[in-house]
Amino acid sequence: MRRICASTVGRGWTEWAGVGRSPGRWLASGLMDVLIHLFVGLHIIGIAALLGGFLTQMRAMGQGTARFVPAMLHGAATMLVTGVILVGLNQADDQEVDNIKIGVKLALLIVILGLVYVKRDDERVEKPLFGLVGLLTVANVFIAVLWT
Ligand code: HEM
Repeated sequence: MRRICASTVGRGWTEWAGVGRSPGRWLASGLMDVLIHLFVGLHIIGIAALLGGFLTQMRAMGQGTARFVPAMLHGAATMLVTGVILVGLNQADDQEVDNIKIGVKLALLIVILGLVYVKRDDERVEKPLFGLVGLLTVANVFIAVLWT
């Protein structure tokens, strides 16, 4: 059974298999796929830091003593940088990028990053504000995986 991955969906099998391509183009496309998957991996490490940082503060959030830990700021920044690079790599590889989906993800991430950056030194962040960052992060995860 052939493995279907995000980078093969929407392409004809001949294109996927590299039929009719010169060896140079075939190699370049293969390297591009590796590069894209590498950045998707880094993108996921970014979510892990952002969401993981949030989850460590859940108990404190209940008591109103949560703070934006550095992992959340670094995770959000990683999401932005790797996300922008992924858009560029996909376009360079002639793969369609859903601009509306990316725009919504970008808008939510800018709110997340802005809040975490501005409040990064606050010893405690109010429960609704802290909860909002978690909610927007989770919303972005589901937008990424459910919006096809
Ligand atoms: C908290 C914010 C974000 C979360 C949780 C998130 C989540 C994800 C996840 C889980 C994937 C892999 C699944 C998939 O292929 O759809 C992904 C892929 C991707 N993300 Fe994000 N993302 C975020 C922000 C961004 C931003 C700001 C951008 C661009 C500026 C971006 C651009 C992309 C691109 C281009 C891909 C490659 C797959 C595709 O074409 O859809 N992401 N993201």
